[in-house]
Amino acid sequence: MSGEVLLRDGFLPPPVRARLAAAFTVHDWPAASDAQEKFLAAHGKNIGALIATAADRATMEQLPGLRLIACYGVGYDGIDVAAATARGVWVSNTPEVLNDDVADLALALMLAAVRRLPAAERYVRENQWPARGDFALTDRLTGKRLGMLGMGRIGAAIVKRAQAFDMRIAYHATQPKPQSPHRWADNAAALAEWCDILCVAMPATAQTVGMVNAAVLRALGPRGYLVNIARGSLVDEAALIAALREGAIKGAALDVFADEPHVPQELREFDNVVLSPHQGSATVYTRHRMAEVVADNIEAVLQGGTPVTAVNKPRV
Ligand code: DGY
Repeated sequence: MSGEVLLRDGFLPPPVRARLAAAFTVHDWPAASDAQEKFLAAHGKNIGALIATAADRATMEQLPGLRLIACYGVGYDGIDVAAATARGVWVSNTPEVLNDDVADLALALMLAAVRRLPAAERYVRENQWPARGDFALTDRLTGKRLGMLGMGRIGAAIVKRAQAFDMRIAYHATQPKPQSPHRWADNAAALAEWCDILCVAMPATAQTVGMVNAAVLRALGPRGYLVNIARGSLVDEAALIAALREGAIKGAALDVFADEPHVPQELREFDNVVLSPHQGSATVYTRHRMAEVVADNIEAVLQGGTPVTAVNKPRV
């Protein structure tokens, strides 16, 4: 096997990097723009595989020998898949291996929001307890109604965990899942109206942009919480801030934002909002497994085969 691989985003655990380096030349994308230009002039046409979470048409044009964009994540909304397909470039992602960690974090966020863990932690850390007495009583998670916006692999893993908390479940997905025992809502507002916790676990697509809008938040109501472990683009962030300001919802727990890593100041100031820096899959174990899937795809394509987890079907 031979070929050149460019790592644009993400960290490759050393064993996976060694595995790739044994067969291919692995380059790191230089940080400085003049170095990037030199890199492209020297290697651009030889790069057969790109490891990235985002790649636009212009990036692809700079790499005319590109055969695969191996997205280092399950969500590939940062990749212009249509442009890749039109150029005969495969796109792969890393499904399945991250389901458990993302679902674990979703439950952690629900618990943190409902039991007000960040505020409670600050209460102890800032030594307010001796002066102010016991922390205010909180809400509880057990028995709450969970509305899953998205019932794919990650949604199902969240539901499995939620059932251990005796939560009642309903979901909205494009189509009802015939095998699912759970109630299907035919739109996001109907789901929000029914549930106590609306958990967003849908892919970011042109159809899902702003799906959680002011009307959905109003339907969720002053006793409801929003949890987002999918993508910031699914939530109208301005509408969310307005809903929190007006007390239209009770709280939120967010792992993803519209303009990462920038989080609006207002969102950072609410005491009833739990914030997490997009770390659904960010455990050592899972990032290693994701990197293995990236490597599997690169080996398959640079050996003349097809990716193991392709998300498109270019004519090659
Ligand atoms: C993904 O893989 O898309 C996740 O958002 C990473 O946490």
